[in-house]
Parts: sequence; structure tokens; C-alpha cells
Amino acid sequence: MVPRVGPRRVEVHPDLEGATAALAAHLAARARASVRERGRFSIVLSGGRTPLGLFRRLARHRGGGWPWRATEVFFADERCVPPHGPESNFGAAWAELLAHVPVPRHQVHRLRGELRPPSLAATRYARRIGPLGPRRGPSAPRFDLVLLGIGPDGHTASVFPRSPAVREVRRSVVAVARPGLPPFVPRLTLTPPALSSAREVCFLVAGSDKVGAVAGIFRAGTRGDPRYPASCVRPPGLSVWYLDRAAAAGLPDLPG
Ligand code: 6PG
Repeated sequence: MVPRVGPRRVEVHPDLEGATAALAAHLAARARASVRERGRFSIVLSGGRTPLGLFRRLARHRGGGWPWRATEVFFADERCVPPHGPESNFGAAWAELLAHVPVPRHQVHRLRGELRPPSLAATRYARRIGPLGPRRGPSAPRFDLVLLGIGPDGHTASVFPRSPAVREVRRSVVAVARPGLPPFVPRLTLTPPALSSAREVCFLVAGSDKVGAVAGIFRAGTRGDPRYPASCVRPPGLSVWYLDRAAAAGLPDLPG
């Protein structure tokens, strides 16, 4: 059975700052609505540098009425490095956002990149996020919102083109021995089924170096294209792309 794929919405902004401001307001609104409706809000944070301005913005305004005490924070992927090292995705999110907002520390679920072997850390995190897919039923997405970026090669989280992780359908978290782009350190990553188990997925993408990847992702059909792993993240709910004009330049009939 081909899982239902939700609609995709695109917002193109003049620059990363504009896309970041729009996404920050959207995330805060989704968080408030989720807590009103279900008493909690679970979000998966992306790694990389693109979201750092977003994290700083949410920290500065404490998220514009964001219900941090009812928020659960997860991570899309992690490098197998110490948690506060310069290459750690958790370390960056902690320094720029989580240390500055009142999210209860036990509700921040870190991928333990320092654990060896990495496969043990992947298994433990999979147990923490719980089973996915049919056992939970299509109507029970694991996360309320997943925030992702993409690399110039179309990867997302640490799911790289033509990698075993892009074809993973059973496990929710895997170890990645050989990432396709720097930093060339082993990684831990949520897989496309896990990243798709969300009420909503938001991508924040900026820069002309990603124009080819964005075009390739948008050309892929609803089943996704393993050459562009981000196209394999298709939740039953909404996917929203926040792009700057440079990254969106390869898309046909751009608004505005
Ligand atoms: C990582 C990220 C990765 C990132 C893209 C874009 O661990 O590096 O999870 O998927 O989102 O590589 O990175 P930039 O935002 O730095 O361009």
C-alpha cells in the first residue's frame, strides 16, 4: 500500500532572513495550536548552519509565546562527536536556542553521538521515539512537526543520495558510516519513514548552491527519488518549503 502523501506548499522570500522570520512565526503558531488541541508539541530539529538564525530568533523572542514547557524536542540527525563539540547538531541547538528557553531538560531528547558503537545509539533512540508505520497506524504520526534542511546534493538529515538509509523502510534510526558530504564523521540519522511520520514537515533552504537539489526534489514524484533523499520525506500531512529566491531559482512559474 503506497502511504498517503500530503500537499506541498512553497514560500519564496527575498533572502534567508525573510524566510527565517516567516518560519519562526509559523512554528510558534503550530506549537500553540498543537498544545491547545493535544496538550503537547513535539518538534524534530534539523542540523546544519541554515537554521541557526532561526534558533537565535526563537531564543531572542522566547518563540513569541511558544509553549516551551509542553514542547518535546528531538533531533533529525547527529554527528558521532561529543555533544558540545563544534560539529555537534545538539551542541549548536543548545547554544543558540535550548539553553535560552524554558523547555524542561528531560523533554530534550538528544541523539547520543558519543555512544559507541553508533548502531547502539541508533537502536536506543529508535526505542525512545517509539514504533512507526502500520503498528501505529497512518493516523498516528510520531511528531507534530519536523524541521529539515537539504544539502547541495539533495540529502536531508544524514540521509545521503543512493545510501542504504534512503531505502530504509523498517528502521526509524540508523547509523551512517560514510556521509556523502563534510563533516566526514560517522552520523546517526532518522530515516525517511521516521521523518515522514509527522503532521507537518518544514524545509528551510537558502543559497544558490542548492538550486539544483531543490529543482530535483520538486521534479520527483510522490514516491520520491533516491537521488534526492529530501524528496523521500513525504508526510501524510503538509510539507512547507521556506526558500530564499536564490535556492528557488530553478523552480518553474515562481510566485512574485
Ligand atoms: C547536518 C544536517 C544536514 C543539513 C544540510 C544543510 O547534520 O548537517 O542535518 O542535513 O541540514 O546539510 O546544511 P546547511 O544548513 O549547513 O547548508
